[in-house]
Amino acid sequence: MQHKAQPSDSKSCSPSRRGFLEWGGRLAGTSALAAMAVPRVHAAEDNTIRLALLGCGGRGSGAVANAMHVPGGPVKLVAMADLFEKRQEGSYKALAKQFADRVDVPPERRFLGFDAFRKAIDCLRPGDIAILATYAAFRPAHLEYAVAKGVHVFMEKQFAVDPVAVRRILKAGEAAKQKNLKIAAGLMCRHSTARQALIQRIRQGALGQIQLVRAFRMDPRAPLVRPKSEDHELYWQIRSTERLFWVSGGTFADRTVHLVDEICWLKDGFPVTAHGVGGRRVNNVDAGQDLDAYSVEYTFADGTKAMAVARYAPNCFPDFATYVHGTKCAAQFSGAIHAPTVLMYKDQRMARENIVWQPERERVPPHQAEWNVLLDAIRNDRPHNEAGRAALANLATIMGRAAVHMGRIITWDEALASNFQFCPNVDQLTADSPAPLKADAAGRYPAPIPGQWSEI
Ligand SMILES: NC(=O)c1ccc[n+]([C@@H]2O[C@H](COP(=O)([O-])OP(=O)(O)OC[C@H]3O[C@@H](n4cnc5c(N)ncnc54)[C@H](O)[C@@H]3O)[C@@H](O)[C@H]2O)c1
Repeated sequence: MQHKAQPSDSKSCSPSRRGFLEWGGRLAGTSALAAMAVPRVHAAEDNTIRLALLGCGGRGSGAVANAMHVPGGPVKLVAMADLFEKRQEGSYKALAKQFADRVDVPPERRFLGFDAFRKAIDCLRPGDIAILATYAAFRPAHLEYAVAKGVHVFMEKQFAVDPVAVRRILKAGEAAKQKNLKIAAGLMCRHSTARQALIQRIRQGALGQIQLVRAFRMDPRAPLVRPKSEDHELYWQIRSTERLFWVSGGTFADRTVHLVDEICWLKDGFPVTAHGVGGRRVNNVDAGQDLDAYSVEYTFADGTKAMAVARYAPNCFPDFATYVHGTKCAAQFSGAIHAPTVLMYKDQRMARENIVWQPERERVPPHQAEWNVLLDAIRNDRPHNEAGRAALANLATIMGRAAVHMGRIITWDEALASNFQFCPNVDQLTADSPAPLKADAAGRYPAPIPGQWSEI
């Protein structure tokens, strides 16, 4: 069964065409310019889009900055939610320093705790945006609430940790469509103009039929060590984020989703099966649940293959790139830390002297471009809902992870239908809840043993 990828429904980064045309025209240049010149708005014609930030960490704060830099009309941060006061305070201070009166979050609109997301979203009105930038475990509940309250959403990847969560994202995405709410999903590479230019060439046949995609993300990193003094086990697990499956989906799912999404985009579809191997180094002392290496082979409906390969170990070659091979020639689709390294070669040899084409330099970084598109869609009422495509790329990643962890081939249909959940009571967690995982006597959490483990 062929699963068609939705085409990127958001090509334009242009500023608004209607109510905010005059500002858009003036600010059509760089995002930095836009940041300096947000117009003053008369109260009677308040077209300010208000933001609530859920998850006041690095990416959430970065997303607020991206929103502030969008040309086309005023944006204001009005509410913040986090679990930890320190994180929230740090984010608030940094944003208030940078954006002054566009950060209007008095203490009574800074909320803490597992239910803080509701209180922050309740500060919004229709037409405003909730930024979902906590961890994947909490994304479905936060998205569902935002959609129920009728606000637009920017949600960071990872969207779902398990198949049940994927289906919740799909369903909430559909509900958003019915309400004409816009949803941007943080797979920002889709908004890379360099990648879009290669995709256009591929669709026109420049590479021939795509036979193979190879995606690598290999990062050095130290083991997770559980401190003996840790007294709030639930918070410790949440703070260990990408090392624990129930919180983030694990490092393979959390980090590799961008590359798996690139694979699906290049193939213009979703895989029908995943097959994979992985393992740990013999001296591994990691307290977390990840394996040290993952190698997943995806098969598409036309029989062609794609590889997603990851490694988390020091002193090894840190490859971070996506390559695509067609019947006519090969190309590089992305580079280190998602750089728009896009190069088309004369044949299969990826050497400098073999380059036959490369796109124009990107003028707007993808993290900014995705916000330009979202705000343009909201201000000009263009269709924009990336939830479905993002949830399915997430499912493809989950399928690859499960193939490695379980040691068998996983089909798309069984992954989509699976009722597996890492933490069935995730929506009911409070500060007093028992932690979902139990560490062993050495402080290590359960790690997958292929052939014995189940997560589908
Ligand atoms: N698209 C990208 O390039 C990109 C880059 C980095 C991170 N991300 C994603 O963004 C998300 C956030 O990552 P980050 O790097 O900002 O992490 P972070 O740890 O810096 O920040 C996350 C914040 O969310 C808070 N939080 C966690 N659970 C919460 C809950 N239930 N309620 C309220 N607050 C909660 C944490 O306390 C923390 O302050 C992750 O899903 C990550 O995968 C995406």
